[in-house]
Amino acid sequence: MRLTSSIPLVSLAAAAAVVEAGTLSPPEHIFDNPPQSSSSSSSSSGHKIPTSYESAVMGRRILALTPLGNLATTFPADNDGYGAEENRPDGLGGMPHTLMEYVADCEDEGNPTFLAINIETTFKNVRDGSNISLAQQWTPPYPPDKRIKSATTTTTTTTSSPGFLSRLMSWLGLGSDDDDDGDEDDPPKEVVPYSAANLPRFSLLGYIEKIDDPSATAALSKCFVEKHPDAKYWLPGNRIHVSEFVRLVAQQVYWVGGFGDRAYIGWIPIDEWKSVTRDEWESISLPGEKKGWKEWSVGATVGDL
Ligand SMILES: *[C@@H]1O[C@H](CO)[C@@H](O)[C@H](O)[C@H]1NC(C)=O
Repeated sequence: MRLTSSIPLVSLAAAAAVVEAGTLSPPEHIFDNPPQSSSSSSSSSGHKIPTSYESAVMGRRILALTPLGNLATTFPADNDGYGAEENRPDGLGGMPHTLMEYVADCEDEGNPTFLAINIETTFKNVRDGSNISLAQQWTPPYPPDKRIKSATTTTTTTTSSPGFLSRLMSWLGLGSDDDDDGDEDDPPKEVVPYSAANLPRFSLLGYIEKIDDPSATAALSKCFVEKHPDAKYWLPGNRIHVSEFVRLVAQQVYWVGGFGDRAYIGWIPIDEWKSVTRDEWESISLPGEKKGWKEWSVGATVGDL
């Protein structure tokens, strides 16, 4: 199924109901979707849960806009003996290994592009036969309008919290220079920026393939360096490391769109993932792409609706 630009990805009425009530409705299903009573895709809480295809469109937008991801591989069974070469411990065979990698979606077909450095453990594992998976999550560029407060900022029963203590001190007139808005130079207090459990993320499972088209290298280099300017120092042919452009050929996609009562959680059929067009992922916006969003907002919106 294809989206048309006139169909909102989610029921905006449901979204508005959550928002206008002034109280953000707590999730009823967090890591799974509610059981479906009928063929309807509305959850028990009344939210319309996006389809797997609508989720694929969101996922392809995340892939296009997110420059970093974590790549997981496994160490080869016959890992022992690497010790002399690189001081690698013996006995790692079959162990998962995950590290951050630069990502660019240069081909825009659902198979992300990487600049593989020969000596990286990730790509060594690939040469030794490992499959691979890429995990990415959506990080909103703007903070939400209102934050969900922690219990320690709304109750006075917790006496050990610094928040309580500093408010008590300031109430007693003992605060140092206790302006509530803090110093401009103070780092933000949040440990996790937003309600990340309700933000979309995915894992792409597949294998690595060299992009074996020398005539594509110039375009790939341009695309990659636009997203990662420092990567110009390790483009193929550089003097320091052997490197090459590769693609992750996606075979499976696992998607967690957010809380299960308002977002799709599950596998996205690979043909849906691959058939999303640029026009489609460009026509939506994800939570927090514009100012004034709610932490427990419901999915993405289409265009300016
Ligand atoms: C890679 O995954 C495929 C399934 O897609 C599996 O058949 C194959 O055994 C895996 N390879 C390794 C080295 O685990």
